[in-house]
Amino acid sequence: MKPYIFITRKLPNDVVRPLLEKFEVKMWMYEDQTVPREILLAEAAKADALLTMLTDKVDEALLKTGKKLKVVANMAVGYDNVDIQAASREGIAICNTPDVLTDTTADLTFALLMATARRMVEAAEFVKDGKWQSWSPFLLAGQDIHHKTIGIVGMGKIGQAVAKRATGFDMNILYHNRSKNQEAEKELGAIYTSFDKLLRSSDFIVCLTPLTKETRHLFTREAFRKMKPSAIFVNASRGPVVDEQALYDALVSGEIAGAGLDVFDKEPIGQDHPLLKLSNVVALPHIGSATIESRTGMMRLCVENIEAILEGRPPKTLVNKDWQPGRGATL
Ligand code: DGY
Repeated sequence: MKPYIFITRKLPNDVVRPLLEKFEVKMWMYEDQTVPREILLAEAAKADALLTMLTDKVDEALLKTGKKLKVVANMAVGYDNVDIQAASREGIAICNTPDVLTDTTADLTFALLMATARRMVEAAEFVKDGKWQSWSPFLLAGQDIHHKTIGIVGMGKIGQAVAKRATGFDMNILYHNRSKNQEAEKELGAIYTSFDKLLRSSDFIVCLTPLTKETRHLFTREAFRKMKPSAIFVNASRGPVVDEQALYDALVSGEIAGAGLDVFDKEPIGQDHPLLKLSNVVALPHIGSATIESRTGMMRLCVENIEAILEGRPPKTLVNKDWQPGRGATL
C-alpha cells in the first residue's frame, strides 16, 4: 500500500506533483478555509505524512492520533502551532520552511515600516475619498526614516535581512536577541542592546521574534511606556507577542505614534476590532511571505521534506533536531 499524505489546503497540482506521482494524496478542498478539527484528526489517524498550515493546531492529541504519522511539514518558518516536544516523543519529524521566505518577509516588514511612517495608507484613502483640496505644508506629513534608529527584536535571518535594508536608509541599527548575531554586527554595524535600552532609544521598534513561552506578551504596557512618543511599532512575527489592549491604549494616549501590524492575537482580526479604527495603524492580513515566488518555494520545500522522510532520507529543514525516526520511518 502506498503511503498516504493529507494536505490541509488546496495547493496547485503542479507543485504537489512529485507527491501525486509516488504516493496516495488527499487535499482539503479549499484554499481559503481551515480544515475542521474533526476532519484533521480523522485524516491524521490514517496519514503517513501531513502538510499543514500555521492555522492548523498540531498538538499532542493530534500527533498521538497519527499511529502511522512520520512527518508533519508545516508551511511556515514559525512553528508555534506545533507541539515540538510531543512530536519528538512520538518519533515524528517536524519540518518548517526557513530561508525561502527570508527576503520576501524582510521586504514586507520594511514596506510596512515605511507605509506607517509616511502614512501611505491614510494618504491613499484621502485621495480616493476626494478629500484632497490643495497641496499644503503639513498635509499628511509623516516621519523621516533615513538616519533614524531602528530597533530589531529578534535578529534571526529575517531580522538580519531587515537590518540590511535599513543600512540603505543610513539608519542606526540596534537589536535584541537571545544570542548575539556576530554577522549582523560585523557586516551591518548592528549593535546589541538590552530590551529596555532598545525600547527607549529606537524610533522604529520592529518585532520579528518567534512566539515562545518567553516571548508571549513580551510587549507589555510597560514596554510601550518606555518607547518614545514618536516611536512606531511594527510587528511581522506573531500577534500574541504583543498585549494588544496595551498597544491600543499606547496608540490612543499618544505614548507611541503609530503601529504597522501584519499579525494579530486572533486571526483573522474582526472588522470591528478597536485597533482597526485608528488612523495611525496600518493593518495587513499576515502577508509577510506572500509573494507567488516565496509561497511556491515554501510549498515545494514541504513537498521535498515529505518525500525525503517517506523515502528514508534526511529532510532539508528539520525543526526537532532530537528526532529519532519512529512509526516505520527509517534514515
Ligand atoms: C511564517 O512562515 O511563519 C509566516 O508567518 C507565514 O509565512
